[in-house]
Amino acid sequence: MTTKNSIRRSQAWFGQQDRDGFVHRSWTKKPGYPDDAFDGRPVIGICNTWSELTPCNSHFRELAEFVKHGVLEAGGFPLEFPVMSLGETQLRPTAMLFRNLASMDVEESIRGNPIDGVVLLMGCDKTTPALLMGAASCGLPTIGVSGGPMLNGKFRGQDIGSGTGVWQMSEMVRAGEMTQAAFTEAEACMNRSAGHCMTMGTASTMASMVEALGMSLPGNAAIPAPDTRRNRLAQLSGRRIVRMVEEDLGMARILTRHAFENAVRVLAAIGGSTNAVVHLLAIAGRIGVPLKLEDWDQLASELPCLLDLQPSGRFLMEDFYYAGGLPALMREMLPLLHGDALTVNGQTIGENVRDAPCYNREVICSMDAPFKPNAGIVILKGNLAPDGAVIKPSAASPHLLTHRGRAVVFDNIEELRSRIDDDAFDIDEHCVMVLRNCGPRGYPGMAEVGNMPLPKKILKKGITDMVRISDARMSGTAYGTVVLHTSPEASIGGPLALVRDGDMIQLDVPRRSLHVEVDDAELARRRTRWTAPPAPERGYVRLYVEHVQQAHLGADFDFLVGSSGALVPRESH
Ligand code: FES
Repeated sequence: MTTKNSIRRSQAWFGQQDRDGFVHRSWTKKPGYPDDAFDGRPVIGICNTWSELTPCNSHFRELAEFVKHGVLEAGGFPLEFPVMSLGETQLRPTAMLFRNLASMDVEESIRGNPIDGVVLLMGCDKTTPALLMGAASCGLPTIGVSGGPMLNGKFRGQDIGSGTGVWQMSEMVRAGEMTQAAFTEAEACMNRSAGHCMTMGTASTMASMVEALGMSLPGNAAIPAPDTRRNRLAQLSGRRIVRMVEEDLGMARILTRHAFENAVRVLAAIGGSTNAVVHLLAIAGRIGVPLKLEDWDQLASELPCLLDLQPSGRFLMEDFYYAGGLPALMREMLPLLHGDALTVNGQTIGENVRDAPCYNREVICSMDAPFKPNAGIVILKGNLAPDGAVIKPSAASPHLLTHRGRAVVFDNIEELRSRIDDDAFDIDEHCVMVLRNCGPRGYPGMAEVGNMPLPKKILKKGITDMVRISDARMSGTAYGTVVLHTSPEASIGGPLALVRDGDMIQLDVPRRSLHVEVDDAELARRRTRWTAPPAPERGYVRLYVEHVQQAHLGADFDFLVGSSGALVPRESH
């Protein structure tokens, strides 16, 4: 059952019959492991983002036990290790500021330890890209296990979606349509089980990307966290990673250009979060696959959305799982995918999904009768976004996709909050709200503040959407005609920094353009008066600001792009 392999990297620690081997084995034996645990069987690292400060991942200790069972059953030796966890709802100023830091933790923890293969336990938004990025820079055989979405929220007899429901209800409170007491009651109704957000927010999107990339067993994305089939998948993943080590099935054989093209197309078909654009670019950068912002437009902007899920639609991830989950959706669009892309189970995407049944056509629509046509993420360019900006038309108001309006500019999110509900504020529903200094360097960390709240006086008119433009990101659970990731960002002198109140802005999504009606000479004049914000003096934030790349490149650190492999480092004793 056990394959002994003297060149397995864990044997550089455990296989030596000398003082160093004694040190590595003796301390590891403390829980009571017998001698044969070190006989050359695959050592599987279980990379755990459990934390009580990351509520979406708080069930991961139990999940890790199922992975361990699977590893042991297959003849491997499981060793669980913690890495920095990123709780989207808690971390300030924004969890995205720490995605790259967590990825460094993952990368160095894998490379520096006696590990032959890795199981990544990931759930809340940034934990998934951080773990994939770090693991990709090592390239060992790796399998992803997501924590799974929460059960549907239930509030006063109705389903409510995490995130999406918060934005809707908070606007209702501001418009005087919902009491504060009802709003507070909804807190316990929305998030009522283990798991991550159950809308097609960033967590569900990235779990779907893991599966579409071939980095997890089929079905991983949608199984609800409390459903015991999630534990079963974890156990099977534990078994499978042992075989992957024996087969030397490293990440580079799975994360190919074809795999990323599949992910970009699936992102359109699920109506996924715009955040996936930044994360996929960063993951591709680590594994060395050329992927560009323009690929979203060329590969997927005209694909239909097949999934009727919040925030673009009605249903939630629990419904998606019962309808057949991602395999059923990918089967529907299989002619558009690279069916020969290899996945972690040793089979191709085509083999995995070609017989996947769909049990509910209301949730997972067919290509012939899609939920929404032309729903992929669109890349905008123009004098306001020379390096690009993104918009998710499926979450926008159709009548605003072509719009010309007067700019109302906010220099930061605090200024917006202080002015937005003033009845004397000079703004109407035809204006274009511009928020700047919220990009990777500006915030810093590219916060999810791009879906700016609308002015109260406009909400009171029953208007629920306006064109909004920023260099920020937006929560995947949010919606609206919101232009995001404008690059280059304002705080490095991007054109967004030069816009003034009253400038006319044109958004033309069908033509892929974003323009401010100010001529080049005037923009150049304004640029001479622009000054860069002061740099942070010390610590991680200084490192971040000095090295983070722009959004159109994935906002990874310049010095982290690429891979260092997993050669065994030198001995320290
Ligand atoms: Fe963790 Fe939404 S807050 S996934």
